[in-house]
Amino acid sequence: MKILKQVCLLMLVLSAQGARADAAAETLKSSMVEKNAVTLERVERDAIQVFCSKPRSVVGDPDEAAALREAALSAVTLPGDDDFLGDWRKGLEVASNGRGLQYTDDPAQANGGNCYACHQLDPEEMAYGTLGPSLSGYGARGRGLPMLQYTWTKLWNTHAYNTCSHMPRFGAAGILTQQQLKDVMAFLLDPESPVNRGLVP
Ligand code: HEC
Repeated sequence: MKILKQVCLLMLVLSAQGARADAAAETLKSSMVEKNAVTLERVERDAIQVFCSKPRSVVGDPDEAAALREAALSAVTLPGDDDFLGDWRKGLEVASNGRGLQYTDDPAQANGGNCYACHQLDPEEMAYGTLGPSLSGYGARGRGLPMLQYTWTKLWNTHAYNTCSHMPRFGAAGILTQQQLKDVMAFLLDPESPVNRGLVP
């Protein structure tokens, strides 16, 4: 009898917590207005976002993390023609452009990659963020197929390698087009690109 009471109490607490979470989600949704690229769908978290936004005190299940990485990796679309490298000059523009997907942005304009917000690239560019590692001299890693595939995959869906990465999913989330990704690849890897200025023989 005592156990039954405790179970009932637990169910009450859990359902109250669930109701609170539902109410919070509803409040969030009703306080948002759809405009341009900002849609209410963006309030819904996908499996990776749910896994990666648990409180710090909750340790994520490593098997679940591995399964999420595996799913991200198997959904990567490589360029059909095996041609990974576009024009680094256009890639520079994509990397330097921080516009796109905000409600104030014109959806008719191409999105940018905003790479400088988190990475150093051209070593002579003074304005860059440091959330991500410096990519200056990235081209020194070479342009062999494994390197091309690694870099493309990282840009397509960073969660394929790092479950809770803070980098945007440029391909998987439809932020950049395949051509823009090829241009950014060239910006990273072309020996002529300013990213590799004096750093790659
Ligand atoms: C919001 C921040 C953020 C933005 C924007 C961002 N990145 Fe990253 N990036 C990171 C972080 C953090 C890492 C390292 C951790 C990780 O791998 O998830 C990283 C890692 C990388 C790596 C792997 C580095 C290595 O040593 O192998 C590459 C390549 C890369 N980013 C390229 C880019 C490019 C190109 C862009 C723009 C199209 C970009 N990133 C935009 C945060 C960002």
